[in-house]
Amino acid sequence: MHPINETHIEQFRKIVGEAYVFTEDEVLSKYAADETERLFFMPQVVIKPRSVEEISEILKTCNQFHIPVTPRGGGTGLSGGALPVNGGVVLATERMNAILKIDERNFQILTEPGVITEVLQDAVKEKGLFFPPDPASKGSCFIGGNIAENSGGPKAIKYGVVKNYVLNLEVVLPTGEIIWTGANTLKNVTGYNLTQLIVGSEGTLGIVTKIVLKLIPLPKHDLTMFATFTTLETACEAVNRILMNGFNPCGMELMEMDALKMAASRTQHQLPIHDNLAACLIIEVDGNNADRLMNEMESIAKLLEELEPADILVAEDTQQKEKLWKLRRRVAEIVKAAGYTIEEDTVVPRAALAPLIKGVKQLAQTHDFQSVCYGHAGDGNIHVRIKKEGKKNSLNDAEVNNILRALFRLVKNLGGTISAEHGIGLVQKSFLDIVMSEKQIQLMRDIKKVFDPNNILNPGKIFN
Ligand code: LAC
Ligand code: ZN
Repeated sequence: MHPINETHIEQFRKIVGEAYVFTEDEVLSKYAADETERLFFMPQVVIKPRSVEEISEILKTCNQFHIPVTPRGGGTGLSGGALPVNGGVVLATERMNAILKIDERNFQILTEPGVITEVLQDAVKEKGLFFPPDPASKGSCFIGGNIAENSGGPKAIKYGVVKNYVLNLEVVLPTGEIIWTGANTLKNVTGYNLTQLIVGSEGTLGIVTKIVLKLIPLPKHDLTMFATFTTLETACEAVNRILMNGFNPCGMELMEMDALKMAASRTQHQLPIHDNLAACLIIEVDGNNADRLMNEMESIAKLLEELEPADILVAEDTQQKEKLWKLRRRVAEIVKAAGYTIEEDTVVPRAALAPLIKGVKQLAQTHDFQSVCYGHAGDGNIHVRIKKEGKKNSLNDAEVNNILRALFRLVKNLGGTISAEHGIGLVQKSFLDIVMSEKQIQLMRDIKKVFDPNNILNPGKIFN
């Protein structure tokens, strides 16, 4: 652990003001965990800057004294990106929470990183505009964290992920230098794409301090359907058929029945759940023409009927729809509380969805663990939650690592990869070699060195 001393702390206080430098255990412990497994790493100091200049000064100091800095947004990450594994500074962006401008003529927003994603979405909605990426944690995650992890969420199936909306970023480099990465234009091939290099870089290359996002017109209507199936295969087949028949839903979420049951009982949701069910789908369509949407939903229902679903319900009003989505959004947290603490963010080409889930069940038998799967079926992105007697964490646990290596080899053999939207962070880094060549990893290390020669920014993440 780095010996941060009183002189450093004094320097930080000078930069941001006494009130925003914290060294008391009570505060530090709140910044020692995120949503990843059950992991806990105490920082030595938490700093809450308000401006890009302050962040630049903090990084200059840390770079000079080789003090590790872990940037932190809403703390909802699932790969350990915000965990200060080497102690040092946690740099919390919560005071950088202003929406600076909504440009209605160009469909753009200029924002600071500490804005809660849903707050940003609501602000642009008022202007008839739409920022589609909607991670399950949208009510508490920060847009800056979404940039760091290249977050996805249910709407990605139709609208893409965060990277598809990022035009330009102001970034403080680990040396304290401040750059803009791109331009506020929809098109841009001016040299290497530094903007997209920062997106998904998990806080290892720089600290994002301003963000320019592209927006799109807000669709006026949406309809949500809930369908249950007696086999996993038919639920997966339904996903493929809907898309292959030319429909373009803005959500195709799958939940295995165990996950649905846990979530439904915790959210007091009355749903038609019987013992012989295997999985459910939440399917949503959106657009500007209500009649056309209704037709689309009816056609999708007809298509599903061929697969003999157990039940098909269409949400009758906004309240029902919201309830259904609330249940889906809370499922991660609910199954975690039920002991499924280890979570994987697997993704395969969509047609390989059924073999992936089947493979998970086989692994569960051979390696003696319990599993529940849920996620963004339309994207082939399934979150696998694992409950293994006596194991709360995957980190440095040989037995759990063995299981995860088997899982990721399966994912690789199906043409997929080990993270779709949660990042590599801390808990996936020892599996990178399964899906990346040595040369690929070396190139990433070299890039890291160019940005961060002293390895102060979020050290120990993505690779050692
Ligand atoms: C979800 C989050 C955990 O899909 O990615 O629930
Ligand atoms: Zn997800």
